[in-house]
Order: sequence, then structure tokens, then C-alpha cells
Amino acid sequence: MLALENVDAFYGKAIALQGVSIHVGRGEVVSLLGRNGAGKTTTLRTCMGLLPCASGRRVLAGENVTRLGPHQLSRRGLAYVPEDRQVFPNLSVEENLAVAGVAHPSGPWTLERVYELFPRLRERARSNAMSLSGGEQQMLSIARAVLTNPQVLMLDEPSEGLAPLVVCAVRDAIVALNSAGMAIVLVEQKLAIPLEISHRLYVMDHGSVAWTGTPEEFRSNRLHVEQRMTV
Ligand SMILES: Nc1ncnc2c1ncn2[C@@H]1O[C@H](COP(=O)(O)OP(=O)(O)OP(=O)(O)O)[C@@H](O)[C@H]1O
Ligand SMILES: [Mg+2]
Repeated sequence: MLALENVDAFYGKAIALQGVSIHVGRGEVVSLLGRNGAGKTTTLRTCMGLLPCASGRRVLAGENVTRLGPHQLSRRGLAYVPEDRQVFPNLSVEENLAVAGVAHPSGPWTLERVYELFPRLRERARSNAMSLSGGEQQMLSIARAVLTNPQVLMLDEPSEGLAPLVVCAVRDAIVALNSAGMAIVLVEQKLAIPLEISHRLYVMDHGSVAWTGTPEEFRSNRLHVEQRMTV
């Protein structure tokens, strides 16, 4: 569904990604793991076209989309929930959700279905996004991305800073979206959820993929994998 093939990316003159190849197939959940500064967020931003591929290719649904920008990629079925959530603070929950559906193909994910995924958002529909808890803002941010009816949903540390119960709600939502056919790219620093719900993992280090395999392979090679991640 989505792939980076041998991609280099730069922040100014500093190289941020070097020869990165990752892919997510139809119906898959893949997770990107790695320490602070490993290049996980940069990889998602490069997938979304927020950072250009200096070399290599970006492919979406079998098509070479290396030169397309974020809006074009979004219309073709790619969605990104950034770490800082980026909800519109002065709009209500339902206004935030109404904005999301504009200029996107209609599909299975309607407002009603998104409220079923996150019942808490229905209760808070009229509230200002600014007044939401961190967990509610994360749900809103995911809900907005889902309303664009993406083929591939990318999430940057969605459980970061959330209470355990909310972390479970977010995990269950990701599993439900994937069961409904959405391919998922999940970035996490903590291992528990990626090991539980991913089909495959990528461990990043210094802007490159240091290791890739299944959660089962990760568990049985953990020492070896961690040795390949420099401190
Ligand atoms: N806007 C930027 N300008 C310059 N360098 C940046 C910028 N954003 C990130 N970097 C650098 O690129 C490298 C990769 O950062 P990135 O944010 O992708 O890491 P990460 O794996 O997401 O880390 P974290 O777990 O802390 O979120 C780091 O060395 C970081 O300092
Ligand atoms: Mg990051």
C-alpha cells in the first residue's frame, strides 16, 4: 500500500534518513521503533510528503508518488496523525470533525461510525477542542484522520503521555481500524503495544533501518536487536 524505497532525506544540509526502505501491505500493522532521534518521525513526515525524498522512491497503492505533496497524498488515501495532534483549539469537536471530511472521498468512515469508535467524542461533541483532556484530543486527532477515509493511517506515538485506560482505548481503536481493512503505520518508543498488535516491526537507528522482523522474531532476538541500536 505504501513504501519508501531506499530513501534519503535531509533537514537543510544534515542527512536525516539514509537508505530507508519500509513498506506496509494491505491489511497490515507495522510499527517503527527506536530511540530518541532515531528518525521515526522523520520517516512518517517523508511518507506524507512533508519532507522531500532526496533520493529513492515513495510508492502509494502501486503508484510512484515520489514528487507529490501532502495534499495530493492525502487525497490518494494517506493520513497522518502527528505527535502534537494539531486539533483546531477554537473549534468544537464536531466542527473539527466536519472540517476533516471536506475534499475527501466519502467511504465507510462516517461521523456516526467514528463516534462508535470513540463514544467519548460524541459526549464531547459541542465542547471546544481546547477544553479536551490529552486523551480526548488524541481521539479527536485520530478521528479526523479516519474521516478522510484513508487506505493507510500513520500515527506518531499516539499513546505518549496518556493514562493507561486511554492507551487501551487508542490501541483498541487501532486494532478495529485495521480489522476494517486499514493499513497502519505506528510509531512508538514503548514496545508493549507494537509487539502486541503489529504484523511486522522496523527498528530505526541513526536515520536508517537497523533491524526488521516479526514481533516473534523480535522477542527471540531481543539482545541481538538491541546490540544493533547504538546509544
Ligand atoms: N526540523 C528539524 N530540523 C533539523 N533537524 C531535525 C529536525 N527534526 C528532527 N531533526 C533531527 O533529525 C533526527 C531524527 O529526528 P526524529 O524526530 O525523526 O526522531 P524520532 O525517532 O522521531 O525521535 P523521538 O523518539 O524523540 O520522537 C534527529 O537527530 C533530530 O535532531
Ligand atoms: Mg518522533
